[in-house]
Amino acid sequence: MSRGHFYADGDIAEIYRWFAAEAAATSPTWQAVSEWVARTASIADRLAGLPGMKRQPQLFLAALRRLDAPLTPGPALEGWIAHHWDAVQRTILTHSTQTNEVGRCAVHLPLLAGLAAESGPIALVEVGSSAGLCLLPDAYAYRYRFDDRPELTLGAGTPVIPCRISGATPEQVTYASPAIAWRCGIDTAPLDPTDPEVAAWLRALIWPGQAEREDRLAAALATATALGAATGRPPVPVVTGDALEALPDVVAEARRHADTVVVMHTATLSYVSRDRRARFGALVGGLGARWISCEGERVVPEVRDRLASGTYDGPPCFVLALDGRPLARVGQHGGWIDWL
Ligand SMILES: C[S@@+](CC[C@H](N)C(=O)[O-])C[C@H]1O[C@@H](n2cnc3c(N)ncnc32)[C@H](O)[C@@H]1O
Repeated sequence: MSRGHFYADGDIAEIYRWFAAEAAATSPTWQAVSEWVARTASIADRLAGLPGMKRQPQLFLAALRRLDAPLTPGPALEGWIAHHWDAVQRTILTHSTQTNEVGRCAVHLPLLAGLAAESGPIALVEVGSSAGLCLLPDAYAYRYRFDDRPELTLGAGTPVIPCRISGATPEQVTYASPAIAWRCGIDTAPLDPTDPEVAAWLRALIWPGQAEREDRLAAALATATALGAATGRPPVPVVTGDALEALPDVVAEARRHADTVVVMHTATLSYVSRDRRARFGALVGGLGARWISCEGERVVPEVRDRLASGTYDGPPCFVLALDGRPLARVGQHGGWIDWL
């Protein structure tokens, strides 16, 4: 899985400079720490010794947060890391970047609702579902703000997820709560949203200075926990397995519950090697499912090849696509949709 990946193969200073730029718009703390790592040989050398995908910056940075490191770049942090390296390394080796960001539900929702409006209740499969929180889009509420029409509030649950919309809304899209007949996640390492240790790690994965994301996570975990308690079952069923290997069986099961099966993934295919990513779209199409992808613009080959190159100079974003066709640029943690 790690072969052919920037995190696994790249130079640590280069990886951290790249990540500093990614974090600049939303987390000055991670930007500053990442720039410092890139120019501090003693830290870069330690990180270079981590295996494969464990060299991912988000993982080291989350370990710092989970272990309450001082987050100001400089000698104090360098000394803290030297003193706590065993614990940092253990945390990195036993955890993964499984950020479960319900803010993303606001960008999935209009497309899910559009598909449900077209064909009736859908069966929803999320690949890379982490704690399953993005499989409950109908349990939360949304506040959509538009450039050219009044604000729209949807749903009655918590959290209330804000999202700014610009650009012309495509015809496939409906601003409504989708009818979901059945849902299931697939993850190599599913997390239990009712476990306090899981909650603490998911919180550590949130970038410093983003209190609203922490509040949203806490509210979504409470909603998932309440749903589980009400039914006596896990709040969301998740199959343990690999995206490509588990998908055929899960889609076959999904088809028993709805005519339209939607396979969705956000911030997941970037963890899959490039050659396997290139097979994913054809796999979904071959299973007769609709495909919503929401990933970095270079992650999904079908999406990357259809985007006009070199024309975008906005903040770091994901590209929301339906069946491989790009429909919008969106905030990496939700927050905004710019329809193309
Ligand atoms: C960054 S999290 C994103 C979680 C969720 N999609 C969200 O947007 O909040 C990526 C998830 O993908 C899972 N994952 C990574 N590689 C996978 C694979 N090959 N098959 C299934 N899941 C995978 C990880 O375990 C992790 O939970």
